[in-house]
Amino acid sequence: MAEQKRILTGDRTTGKLHLGHYVGSLQNRVRLQHDYDTFILMADIQALTTHFENPALINGSIYDVAMDNLSVGLDPEKVTIVQQSQIKAIAELTVFYSMLVSVNTLRHNPTIKTEAANYGYNDMTYGFLGYPVSQTADITFCNADLVPVGEDQLPHIELTHKIVRRLNDLYGTNITEPKAMLSSCSRLIGLDGNSKMGKSLGNAIYLSDTAETVNEKVRLAVTDPSRIRAKDPGHPDICAVSTYHKVFNTEEYEDICERCKAGGIGCVACKRRLAEKLNELLDPFRERRAYYEAHKDLVKDIINTGSEKANRIGDETVAKVKEAMSLKI
Ligand code: TRP
Repeated sequence: MAEQKRILTGDRTTGKLHLGHYVGSLQNRVRLQHDYDTFILMADIQALTTHFENPALINGSIYDVAMDNLSVGLDPEKVTIVQQSQIKAIAELTVFYSMLVSVNTLRHNPTIKTEAANYGYNDMTYGFLGYPVSQTADITFCNADLVPVGEDQLPHIELTHKIVRRLNDLYGTNITEPKAMLSSCSRLIGLDGNSKMGKSLGNAIYLSDTAETVNEKVRLAVTDPSRIRAKDPGHPDICAVSTYHKVFNTEEYEDICERCKAGGIGCVACKRRLAEKLNELLDPFRERRAYYEAHKDLVKDIINTGSEKANRIGDETVAKVKEAMSLKI
């Protein structure tokens, strides 16, 4: 069998993952694990760049994010789950790479700019400004070929290219130039009508939410405001609930839209159906999660074993880079 290509992707450990993460990346990972040598990074150092004042949240989130990934169907026998801060190569490569990138390049990174504005940073830390360099180390310590990400991560992959090319040109290393693998599914809007589902926006349905919580969140969702009575004709094109039917209830989507426009289905029934479909999706996740919740030591083992494997690979990369940079005596 030909050797599988390697992919690496990950999540910041700043809280539990939600349906937006599922649609935008987790679902894709579950499919990819069969065809690729898959590394999933619990990015706890990157979490520090924005949440360094709340280390307890980051620590708890390492378990939560690992369990979110496992509960949606990533197979711990197949994928390597890695805790970023355990990987010495990531810290070392970050320092070496930092010589090869200018402060201006980092300042102009559009994702850094957007995030800095969202967090209200007018004087950002060196660590935050430089996290794309650390992300380059995440991707290259194991010579990943592909990086499955959403569009917002493209500037970081571009920087990775730049750094890797510079490194290989200057020192004759052969670090892999990775490619971004864009997730096909667009972002999920919030059930409150906001353009995005987000933890900080308070409109998220978590993968770990109970069925009752999901029912309640869907019940409160914003629909077509001009629709007062169930028999009024609705406008699915401006209704958040309809976009959810499109993603999570594909088979009935068209029919529900037609009935809504004709005043044949009211918002209450429409929402009830959506909540049912969401719970159908989430039920198997809840089941797997309950198992891991009851076996937390197993989750710890999975993370530690994955991190040990990653350290073995990363140490080799660092040895090569150090030698190429003449740091070996
Ligand atoms: N920056 C990514 C995010 O905010 C998380 C991440 C950290 C990542 N390291 C990575 C993604 C390496 C892909 C590859 O979601």
